[in-house]
Amino acid sequence: MGKRFLPETSQDNGPHVPVLLDEVLAALSPLDGKRIIDGTFGAGGYSRALLEAGAIVIAIDRDPSVKPFADALMAEFEGRLIFVPGTFSELDTLAAEHGPIDGVVLDIGVSSMQLDQAERGFSFMREGPLDMRMSGQGESAADLVNKLDAEPLANLLYAFGEERKSRRIAQFIVAARDIAPIATTLELAKIVEKAIGRKPGDAHPATRTFQALRIAVNAEFEQLAEALFAAERLLDEGGRLVVVTFHSLEDRIVKRFFDPDKGGPAQSRHLPQVEAEARRWVEVAKARKAGEAELGRNPRARSAILRAATRSDAAQRPVSYDGLSVPQVRGA
Ligand SMILES: C[S@@+](CC[C@H](N)C(=O)[O-])C[C@H]1O[C@@H](n2cnc3c(N)ncnc32)[C@H](O)[C@@H]1O
Repeated sequence: MGKRFLPETSQDNGPHVPVLLDEVLAALSPLDGKRIIDGTFGAGGYSRALLEAGAIVIAIDRDPSVKPFADALMAEFEGRLIFVPGTFSELDTLAAEHGPIDGVVLDIGVSSMQLDQAERGFSFMREGPLDMRMSGQGESAADLVNKLDAEPLANLLYAFGEERKSRRIAQFIVAARDIAPIATTLELAKIVEKAIGRKPGDAHPATRTFQALRIAVNAEFEQLAEALFAAERLLDEGGRLVVVTFHSLEDRIVKRFFDPDKGGPAQSRHLPQVEAEARRWVEVAKARKAGEAELGRNPRARSAILRAATRSDAAQRPVSYDGLSVPQVRGA
């Protein structure tokens, strides 16, 4: 990424290093004058590369702190970057006046800036307020851990973090907050460590708890599912959709969205055959992962998975999460 053109963050780590960038570009083929939505602008790594290839970029981000990065690119690429603050679940309405659109890219999850800035509260390794709100609005992670009863809290940690020891962690959280509200990241990390212990060589015991809370605070699964349907509504035949995800729960949603036959319930041979539905997405590419060279440069690319597909001429589906395996919190 052309780091020298971008404002530095307050951290030593520098801004976000874009993941699977070559693969994103290959999947979008951003030729001169093509209009691409970058639904997760971040530090603008994808947007910069798309602009350099000649595209017009409509960039969206829900985090107001990315604005200086957008301002820098808008100045450099005079008029070819349009920055629209908001959530990518509404990308079709946000981009309505900037169409027609040839491609959409989504790089799901948190940016390095969000993770590295202790005051955002995303990291269990940096002391900060237990916040985790990408937009800075709505309920924070502290609100959730201090408010939810033990059972829904455990269900949330299980559904969104795949945390097998969710009940024990929830009990420890409730016991701790009965003494004083949980206010900071390290307070929560220590409570989780006390609940389930820590084995040398294993990931930090609070990893899954923090993932689950972040997903809940930012409604990340709903945002992803809604964005996929929004792209389906927006793109005409031939339009490309490229999605980079960072864990299997997200990847499964994308995979099933592109190819509803995969993983869906098997048809019984005793029932009348249901006519095959028209495919909304064609040229569905095999999932791509970062190669050794990229992993050497950027270990955060380790869990990234890219999926891409082309919009067919079939009419859009009505929004339904059936068959998409969007995790739900029991009793919520
Ligand atoms: C992984 S970073 C993107 C990094 C970017 N590709 C780059 O190269 O710099 C994800 C960004 O998406 C934003 N984001 C996450 N969920 C969002 C949503 N639902 N709507 C809009 N932006 C979102 C985050 O605020 C963050 O800035």
